Amino acid sequence: MATTADYGLGEFTFPRGWFMVATSEEVTNTPIGVRYFGEELVLYRGHSGRVFLIEAFCPHMGTHLAKNSTSYVVRDKEHVEGDNIRCPYHGWRFGPDGRCNEIPYSPSPPPKAACLKSWKVVERAGVVWTWYDAENGEPDYDLPAFEAFDAPYWVNWKIDCLGTLNSHPQEVVDNMTDKGHLEPVHGSVDMVSFENEFDGVVCRQILAAGHKTLAGSGAEPMTNDTWYTGPGILQSVMIGEYPSHMLIAHTPVDDGSVKVWYGLMVKVKNEKPTGADIALAKQYEVAGVDAFAQDFEIWGNKRPCINPMMVKGDGPFDKLRIWYKQFYNPRARAGEFQTRVNGKYTTRGTATAPWDAVA
Ligand code: FES
Ligand SMILES: [Fe+2]
Repeated sequence: MATTADYGLGEFTFPRGWFMVATSEEVTNTPIGVRYFGEELVLYRGHSGRVFLIEAFCPHMGTHLAKNSTSYVVRDKEHVEGDNIRCPYHGWRFGPDGRCNEIPYSPSPPPKAACLKSWKVVERAGVVWTWYDAENGEPDYDLPAFEAFDAPYWVNWKIDCLGTLNSHPQEVVDNMTDKGHLEPVHGSVDMVSFENEFDGVVCRQILAAGHKTLAGSGAEPMTNDTWYTGPGILQSVMIGEYPSHMLIAHTPVDDGSVKVWYGLMVKVKNEKPTGADIALAKQYEVAGVDAFAQDFEIWGNKRPCINPMMVKGDGPFDKLRIWYKQFYNPRARAGEFQTRVNGKYTTRGTATAPWDAVA
């Protein structure tokens, strides 16, 4: 496994951005332990319905705030009270701002230092998202709106976790510019166009080609518009009889490993999707997971690619890797990397992408 330093990405180990940390349904009034960005964290839903993401270890004596089932704090259902969480060891209680607001046995007020680091959380489209920033700044771009979620005619995604890859996310992000793998891996024969665009925090790919896994052999070419918003959220829109909207979210677990999720929404003919519509969407989703599994198998078994050996006909990996560096360096330098790559790139051997047709 290779690290951020091995790829020479920048001074921060983990990239700045919005990241998925759980599906909505995973987060309940029973706190759970999760690990991201090299840290142990705890996720829970307060009784108001709000979701909280906090550091896992109690400042008093280091107890894990979620991993307990036997303390009477847990048995007597005092673990989450309102939007507060109580430590299973000595019962210190922490509020939604992370501050300790009650020490049940002590006459003195909680020390100021008794404070848990808490993370910014947004719940949207059935997913719990957090903002990571080594500089502790406010978000410098918006979490995508995911407008199709809960919209008429759309069958919502049901997000699947595909597991944790022992690969640096660089290897996953490289896929955006990887024209050369499309035919061998996915059966994207008869490629009409393949083009990338970099625009600030967004990196886009337009592909028009066949796809044996998604559409079968000999089908008409499909057009996919696929884009990263920041380093951890990939969406793809496919035009066709049943338009679909795909999400691939990936979040660093440690330096050199990444957890990956997949979801697909499908637009059907009925404003309020019927059982048959939901079954059709499920079929699409399964085909999409199959296609992604083709990439996953490669990533799961390859060695790190620190320096790609590029030939004519490969996509603009070099530009992509510069784009990706903006998230590993102070935000004051982001513009520097963007200026170096902003623009459109057509990969040799294909026509120009039909940008107007998919705008
Ligand atoms: S270790 Fe958490 S209250 Fe003592
Ligand atoms: Fe792929």
